[in-house]
Amino acid sequence: MSLSPSSTEQIDDFEKVVLSDPHQAYRVLRADGPVRKMQMPDGMKAWVITRYDEARAALADPALQKAPPAGGMAEQGLQQLDDDFSDDLAANLITVDPPEHTRLRKLVTKAFTSRRVEALRPRIEQIADELLDEMANHTEVDLLDAFAFPLPMTVICEFLGVPDEDRDDFRQWSKYLLDVDSAEAGPVSASMAAYLMRLIATKRDDPGDDLLTALIQARDDDDRLSEQELVSMVFVLLLAGHETTVSLISNGVLALLRHPEQLAALTADPGLLPGAVEEFLRFDGPIHLATLRWATTDLTLHGASVAAGEPVLVSLLSANRDASRFDDPDRFDITRKPESHLAFGHGIHYCLGAALARLEGEIAFGRLLARFPDLSLAGEPEALQWRHSTLIRGVERLPVRLAA
Ligand code: HEM
Repeated sequence: MSLSPSSTEQIDDFEKVVLSDPHQAYRVLRADGPVRKMQMPDGMKAWVITRYDEARAALADPALQKAPPAGGMAEQGLQQLDDDFSDDLAANLITVDPPEHTRLRKLVTKAFTSRRVEALRPRIEQIADELLDEMANHTEVDLLDAFAFPLPMTVICEFLGVPDEDRDDFRQWSKYLLDVDSAEAGPVSASMAAYLMRLIATKRDDPGDDLLTALIQARDDDDRLSEQELVSMVFVLLLAGHETTVSLISNGVLALLRHPEQLAALTADPGLLPGAVEEFLRFDGPIHLATLRWATTDLTLHGASVAAGEPVLVSLLSANRDASRFDDPDRFDITRKPESHLAFGHGIHYCLGAALARLEGEIAFGRLLARFPDLSLAGEPEALQWRHSTLIRGVERLPVRLAA
């Protein structure tokens, strides 16, 4: 890896420098400074924050906003990308600032409280057990296909009130949208928006006791959100509700399989599960870079002069391995209880689904290890392919053997 000193004008290529081995790259970057200007795969030049304190502060900084300032996208050569993406998906919790953000978030907060989520426990356990029953017919499976993907996908579909028969299409679409180099993002976003509109129309005709019906009522009866905001809300809930939890399960299983003593400790004592889930999130969390923010005024970010209109990205992956916050940060230790990790973000955009993700993680690992205590990797860890994404940190496939 070649890194230029941060004092020169040279801007490193994020894809080349970071994506192939992010933890190694971030060790070098953090030592060099808390923030670094880098060229992103789509051509944008952005400030990337790598250290914990600075990352946490940036996530809660009102001077960094989601809406691009006038001219910001054009200056970055990004007008085209923005134009391609379906307008129907564009305005959602993740992309807007207060007061719109406050209004939209209020519509869904109650559905995701710990108490409401806890009520889902028996059903999530049942879904997990059914998937594990099916896995038991095999000696070797791709854990992503067999378990890590269908579990959260089924949970979020049921939670929203969405039939899950289209989930394979949905999986392909979200992969296109979230992985680097997708020339298909424009058309795929249009297909996804059309699919969501059909879904909403069907639910309007056949309402249920579910979150999608409640959102449609908030739209139709109380006019609390626009039709585009409704479509985009369902989009973001479906997408955020599964993509991330897939990686929580697969990255966590991979970390355990690479650290057999930790796997043995967790299998022997399920009481360690809640703490273990926090360590999975810290050690190799599902979100690599938090979503894009823009400087609204000229500001100095820890010595770096960030001009109004410049984009800023926060590396959650890097912040969670910062030695100034976590002792011996590259050591995987399920007993460390790293409550202050940033895997769910921080500030007003803090993950809406954190309680749900934690519950799904706890159930997924508990049930999986109880059922297959001799789980092992089928193949060498070095052969695993990581997703080519600046947002999602996760493997493409995770082949495992189910018995010794
Ligand atoms: C926001 C991580 C699961 C829904 C976020 C953010 C992070 C995150 C880092 C903030 C992004 C930013 O500030 O740029 C995760 C992780 C998960 C997970 C690591 C699993 C382990 C879920 C689930 C849902 C969900 C299950 C369920 C619907 C959302 C939503 C937002 C969000 C709607 C936007 C909140 C806002 O902007 O106000 N998530 N998430 N997430 N997450 Fe999650």
